[in-house]
Amino acid sequence: MDQTHVDGDLELDQTLFTEEQITTRLREIAREIEKDYDGRDLLLVGVLKGAVMVMADLARSLDRHVEMDWMAVSSYGSGTKSSGVVRILKDLDTDLNGRHVLIVEDIIDTGLTLSWLITNLKSRGPASVEIATLLRKPEAQQMDVAVKYVGFDIPNAFVVGYGLDFNEKYRNLRCIGTLAPHIYS
Ligand code: PRP
Repeated sequence: MDQTHVDGDLELDQTLFTEEQITTRLREIAREIEKDYDGRDLLLVGVLKGAVMVMADLARSLDRHVEMDWMAVSSYGSGTKSSGVVRILKDLDTDLNGRHVLIVEDIIDTGLTLSWLITNLKSRGPASVEIATLLRKPEAQQMDVAVKYVGFDIPNAFVVGYGLDFNEKYRNLRCIGTLAPHIYS
């Protein structure tokens, strides 16, 4: 669905990124990845559920073979804020030993989830672990998480669409927009 189907739910004129802008940026990142991993096998690890759209479009933008696997994790803690204590709901099927791993995320907010995930995946003997995220909020930059590929740095607003949800809604919105306060307050 597009913005016309969620009329009134998004801040007016606050569409952060159109479908076209997202696609263009992911293609640019794909070219970087092709260069950086030239001659090496690559395993993309998507973090459910938000990363589904990014994974689908990034993987299809890559003009090379990749493998894909998925993890589902859940943060303990109250409200919308991550606590940094993470529980694995669905683990990888793939043995990471000797593999080049690229974690694919939709958004890094506090950075706590990724910080935990990096440590967890590195303990499994991979050749390398890097991160690609479509969006990154400023707070995340205060965490000690080195992110190799960032689509866009965004302000600290409540964004939805393109995989990002509010109460499981808006994930299938083609663009990314700022949720109007009357929806979540
Ligand atoms: C989102 C996002 C990251 C995490 C980032 O997932 O996909 O995994 O939050 O937050 P952090 O940087 O503050 O740790 P969420 O927990 O909302 O689950 P979802 O992907 O199923 O929507």
